[in-house]
Amino acid sequence: MLADLALVGFGNVARRFVRLLDEQKPFLLSRDLTYRIVAISTRRHGAAFDPAGLDPLSAALTIDAGGSLGDRAADDGRSSNQRAIETLARSSSPLRVLIETTTLDIDAGQPAIEHVRSALQAGCHVATANKGPAAFAYDDLSRIARDRGLSFLFEGAVMDGVPIFNLVRDTLPAVEIAGFRGVVNSTTNHILTALEDGQEFAPALAEMQAAGIAEADASLDVDGWDAAAKAAALANVLLGARITPHDVERQGLGSDCARRARDAKSRGARLRLVASARRDEQASVRLEELPERDPLAGLRGMSNALVLDTNLLGEIAITQLHGGLTHTAYALLSDVIAIRSRC
Ligand SMILES: NC(=O)c1ccc[n+]([C@@H]2O[C@H](COP(=O)([O-])OP(=O)(O)OC[C@H]3O[C@@H](n4cnc5c(N)ncnc54)[C@H](OP(=O)(O)O)[C@@H]3O)[C@@H](O)[C@H]2O)c1
Repeated sequence: MLADLALVGFGNVARRFVRLLDEQKPFLLSRDLTYRIVAISTRRHGAAFDPAGLDPLSAALTIDAGGSLGDRAADDGRSSNQRAIETLARSSSPLRVLIETTTLDIDAGQPAIEHVRSALQAGCHVATANKGPAAFAYDDLSRIARDRGLSFLFEGAVMDGVPIFNLVRDTLPAVEIAGFRGVVNSTTNHILTALEDGQEFAPALAEMQAAGIAEADASLDVDGWDAAAKAAALANVLLGARITPHDVERQGLGSDCARRARDAKSRGARLRLVASARRDEQASVRLEELPERDPLAGLRGMSNALVLDTNLLGEIAITQLHGGLTHTAYALLSDVIAIRSRC
């Protein structure tokens, strides 16, 4: 089956995704899946459209080298995004998927929500690594998808490639999630680990920026907004909450986090940024001093973990020891494969 894909956003994650697609061609073929990229749009690096298929690897190289795809957006990129979705919607391919990887907007999740909504309303499936749509508009978007028999998937939005939403949806039938707690932001965990080891804040953050792991606006990580968006997405999907990141009680690392991280370690404890929520309780992101025996305390560097509190299986912990761009790109790939398997 031929899948046509349109990429709205072509940054670190999307460029890794097109390379991963290429690497995985033989596997995809074994699952009866071939693909074409029919549109790519960005905010400041132009856009490209071709219903017959673009060359995504050469487009990735162009952006890597600081170039532009041409066909520049008229204003802030919206018109080329719309054209990308229209190009996808016009395709006669049996599988049409929008891959949405624009940057997180913490005010309202836009324009990502509108990209997702437009694609669904035009009859296209959606896979996104952007937290905004599930954190701000999960109910609305999932209802539109359900009503049209389409998929709205966002596995990469929380803990990169480690299955969280898939795990609960596909492999835990009849299990109710009562709550969760986790370390879900790699950048702040890397910084806290560096600080407790006696290193400085700025170089630790710079390492995450150089690796393409930190958000484009790193204050979203440092001030706890990224973790709050993930907490909102998890609460909306797993606990049936109808919240946004602004409803999450939130702390960031704060100006005295270096002293607190070192003090905690000197007492045999660890300072970690913990996102949590329970049914009928406010979700929160807090800097917590955890005893060493806590499964979240031992997470170092870019590791993440989520502990799900379930009614039938007690606590289930899912840990990602090494996150990164390939992991997030894999989440998008796994969403595309899941969409294929539903058709
Ligand atoms: N990086 C990670 O490890 C990771 C992990 C999990 C989830 N995520 C999420 O995945 C998404 C992408 O992350 P990334 O690291 O690839 O970010 P990035 O490198 O900053 O790339 C973002 C891309 O989106 C484009 N863009 C931004 N606003 C746009 C708009 N209004 N219209 C069209 N294009 C727009 C940018 O274009 P210009 O460059 O031209 O501005 C760029 O191509 C984010 O939502 C992020 O939170 C990232």
